[in-house]
Amino acid sequence: MAAWRRPQAGDLLAEARRAFREEFGAEPELAVSAPGRVNLIGEHTDYNQGLVLPMALDLVTVLVGSPRADGLVSLLTTSEDADEPRRLQFPLPTAQRSLEPGTPHWANYVKGVIQHYPDSGAVTARAQVCQRAEHSFAGVPCGIMDQLIALLAQKGHALLIDCRSLETSLVPLLDPKLAVLITNSNVRHSLGSSEYPLRRRQCEEVARALGKDSLREVQLEELEAGRELVSKEGFQRARHVVGEIRRTAQAAAALNRGDYKAFGRLMVESHNSLRDDYEVSCPELDQLVQAALSVPGVYGSRMTGGGFGGCTVTLLEASATAQAMQHIQEQYNGTATFYLSQAADGAKVLHW
Ligand code: GLA
Repeated sequence: MAAWRRPQAGDLLAEARRAFREEFGAEPELAVSAPGRVNLIGEHTDYNQGLVLPMALDLVTVLVGSPRADGLVSLLTTSEDADEPRRLQFPLPTAQRSLEPGTPHWANYVKGVIQHYPDSGAVTARAQVCQRAEHSFAGVPCGIMDQLIALLAQKGHALLIDCRSLETSLVPLLDPKLAVLITNSNVRHSLGSSEYPLRRRQCEEVARALGKDSLREVQLEELEAGRELVSKEGFQRARHVVGEIRRTAQAAAALNRGDYKAFGRLMVESHNSLRDDYEVSCPELDQLVQAALSVPGVYGSRMTGGGFGGCTVTLLEASATAQAMQHIQEQYNGTATFYLSQAADGAKVLHW
């Protein structure tokens, strides 16, 4: 059966404060939240210096804390998904002694941010610090999309990000007649962890073979003309990226003028390209997209994120959501989980 999940930031904050009080015997002095995100279009383009169009979700992570004077960091998570131990303590890094990734895994990203944080200042530098933490502590050579949308998102808007210049522009996403439905396939194929860095390498190799800094600098015609210089697979990977960057610009323009049909068509093209040229989809994601596309009122649907499992994103008329969820679940061989979210704010300080 389909399930609804919508943890409220307020509930999470209350839970975090309670856990803090129990552990440390005092009220925390600071509380912050950071959103999850869904990428509407522009997949596997960020590490190619391309364009992406994500929005932040009203599903958030909440963190509370207080400064301490003894040079130690104590961490505690209440996440049920976290590996054991759920609490740990370590000294703050110094010039002589760096933090290292290890176990428990849930703490690695936090440690990475603590390790790299002294290098940050401006907002985009903070995003880069978090990206570096993901590279060196979580082991994923990701692009900059997730970190920038988490920092810069504004309620009621998607964010067009140029991952080369780091320029961003807000794209209104406020129409009450429109909904964004996220469907979790609840599968994650282990392939993902090795294929992501491989895709990144393949893209960089094609750019190099064509004498360019990145695939952002490559036009489709140049890629066609340079076909002999790259492998068949490399050509397909690059064709996805070059086409996807173009689609993302077109999709942002379509959303700006309220042309949801055009946006939906571009989403479907994106999915097909990710499936056939970039080869990061999987049967479960394809099935979810197919099912969504057969529902009246659906404009478009595609896999979202790195691929090999995870979620699809569907743009549809708000009035069609109940029917869409029911139909998708009926058609899907697995168990789907649905999230309906407005475009939400980025990371912020919480007050109580
Ligand atoms: C993952 C990465 C992002 C991006 C997407 C694919 O989510 O963290 O940086 O590369 O995959 O678009």
